[in-house]
Amino acid sequence: MKNYLSASILAANFADLKSEIDAVMAAGVDYIHFDVMDGHFVPNLSFGAPVCASLRKAGVNAPIDVHLMVTDPQNYIEPFQKAGANLLIFHEEVVNDTHAMIKKIKAAGMQVGIAYNPETEFKIKPEILADVNLILIMTVKPGFAGQHFMPSCLEKIKQARRMIDAAKLNTILAVDGGIKIDNIKMVKEAGANFFVVGSGLFSANDYYECVARLRSEL
Ligand code: DX5
Ligand code: ZN
Repeated sequence: MKNYLSASILAANFADLKSEIDAVMAAGVDYIHFDVMDGHFVPNLSFGAPVCASLRKAGVNAPIDVHLMVTDPQNYIEPFQKAGANLLIFHEEVVNDTHAMIKKIKAAGMQVGIAYNPETEFKIKPEILADVNLILIMTVKPGFAGQHFMPSCLEKIKQARRMIDAAKLNTILAVDGGIKIDNIKMVKEAGANFFVVGSGLFSANDYYECVARLRSEL
C-alpha cells in the first residue's frame, strides 16, 4: 500500500509560503494540505481559494488537498476548482446530502474526501465509501495546528481500515492532527496510509531530515 505524506501549511511561515512549499516538496512530501477555516465550523480563521490560486500562478504544481473546515462546503467547490485544487475534503458533520456533494466535487474534476471529527462516529454507507477517494479521520479537534494527537481516535482508524479492506477498495485512509515522527508508525499500524503533518514537519530545522525520518517509520 502506498503511503502519502501531506504537509499542512497551517504550520508554515505564511510570510514565505511559496519557499516553504518548495522546500517541503523538495524534501519529499507528496501533497500540500490546505486547512480552510471559516470561524464557524471551527473557532479560527485561516485562508481560502485566492491563496491557492496565487500559489499556482507562482508555479507551485504540487498536488493540493483542501480540508474544508467550514459550515457550507458546497460554496467552496467552484472557487477551489478554479484555483487549481486536486482533492476536496468536506466534513461529514455539516452535509445533509453526502451523495450530492460527492457528485458536485467530481463534476468539478476534483477527487473527494470525507472527514470525521474526533467525536463523530465513523458511519458510512457502502455505496458512499465506494464513491470517495479518501476518508480522513481527525486525530485532534479541528481548528489549530500544534495540538496533541488523541489516542482515542485509533480505534476509529482501525474500523475504517477494516471497512475499506472488507469492501476490497483502495480508498486512501488519512489522519490529521498531531502526527509526528514518534507516533506516525502507530497510526500506520492502525491502518492509515495518508499522513497530514503540520507542526511535526514545519517546526523542524531540516525538512529533508524530518521527511526522511517520517518515511523511515512507515
Ligand atoms: C487541524 C488541521 C490540521 C493541522 C495539522 O485543524 O486540520 O491539518 O493543521 O497540524 P498539526 O500536525 O500541527 O496538528
Ligand atoms: Zn487539516
